[in-house]
Formats: sequence, structure tokens, C-alpha cells
Amino acid sequence: MNETGRIGVLISGRGSNMEAIAVACKQNQVPARIAVVVSNEPGAAGLARAKRLGIDTEVIPHRQSATREEHDRKVAAVLDAKGCGLVCLAGYMRLLSPWFVRHYEGRILNIHPALLPAFPGLHAQKQAVEHGVKVSGVSVHFVDEELDHGPIILQSAVPVAEDDTEDTLAARILVEEHRLYPEAIGIVLDGNWTLSGRRFLVTGPGDPRGRRGARPSGSPDRERP
Ligand code: GRF
Repeated sequence: MNETGRIGVLISGRGSNMEAIAVACKQNQVPARIAVVVSNEPGAAGLARAKRLGIDTEVIPHRQSATREEHDRKVAAVLDAKGCGLVCLAGYMRLLSPWFVRHYEGRILNIHPALLPAFPGLHAQKQAVEHGVKVSGVSVHFVDEELDHGPIILQSAVPVAEDDTEDTLAARILVEEHRLYPEAIGIVLDGNWTLSGRRFLVTGPGDPRGRRGARPSGSPDRERP
């Protein structure tokens, strides 16, 4: 399998999105495989999940590096050694250094449990409940140097019920995360897309809007990085 089909997943905790990606790869819904799971937290539950799935794991504790970039260079050395062409953040609780973002420019994805640009950062589901929005959801986006900020690849809405708590909303959003992240990875790996400014536009047969009957209007003015 070539580099584009090798995914490096970065986690800090539970790893349920990592598992959803692994299962989608195994079932050939995504033409790729997870080459390695890297955690900055030695106690991350996702490490055991990955091992159960037969996926190689690496622990790179961030506390052992003096700077963010020093840590990120260690992570990149592992990802590069495994030939990863795509890096997926899945509950990775670290900001990336500008060096890392440049090293994998246009090849880092993240999932966020809200409809960005609403509620970036920590506790997105709590923010949504407390703000009183009627709809929240999931965003899968490219990673740039700002937190939860890069171009959005796919979003999906999840209604907020009147009796929702942070936990009940998070649980319903998580179900949608597990569906959306593999779908977004498949679209990105498919390669039939461009960026027009911040706008992620699917251009080929994989066009999800095409499948739903509507065609994108206007032509993209910039190739993907
Ligand atoms: C998910 O809600 C994800 O959107 C957010 O962190 C959580 C990670 O969960 N970035 P898991 O580790 O994938 O189970």
C-alpha cells in the first residue's frame, strides 16, 4: 500500500474515533489502513484498543520534551518511519507546532464535536448546552496553526434536546463522529477535491453533493496544497 493509504492516528485518551477509522479501513469503506497509533499519554485507553485491533502503537510522552516542536519532531519521526501519508487527530489534546503543521501541510485532519466555527476548544458539548443552541454536531477539518480552525471537510448536525446534559449530547454526537470521520478520510484520500480559499470543494465522482442531487456551483480557484 502506498503512503497515501497509510494513516497515522494521534490520540490522548479513549480512542473510539481511532477504532471507528480502523474498522472502516478493515471493512474496505476507507481505502487505507492505520499504520501506527501514537499517544502522548502513556495511560491512554486507546492504546489498549489499538493493540486489540492489531495496530502498532507508540507512546511519546510530551513531558519528556523541552519544547512543543521537540516533541512534535519525535512524533513525526515515528509517522515518517511508518510511511504515513495522512495524519488523523482523534482526541489528541495537544496543539501542534508550526513545524509539524508545515511538515504535513494539507495532510492533517481533526474531528471536533461541534459545528465549527461555533464552540472551538475544550468541552464543546458543554459549551453548546450552556449556550442554548438547538443544533450542534460534528466537524471534520484540516488542521492549520490555529485551534480548530482549518478548512472544513464535512459537517453533520445533531439536534440538542431540551433535557440534554453535556454527557447525553456528547454520546449522541459521538455516534455521528464515528460515521463522519471515516467518510471524510475516504473523500480526502479519493483526491477529487480542491480548496477555494477556505472552501473544500469535491470535484469528482466522489462528490457527496452530487450523490444527493445538487451540484457545486462555481469553479475552484486553487489546487489543494
Ligand atoms: C471526540 O469527541 C473528538 O471529537 C474530540 O475528542 C473526543 C475523542 O474521543 N476531539 P475518542 O478518544 O475518539 O473516543
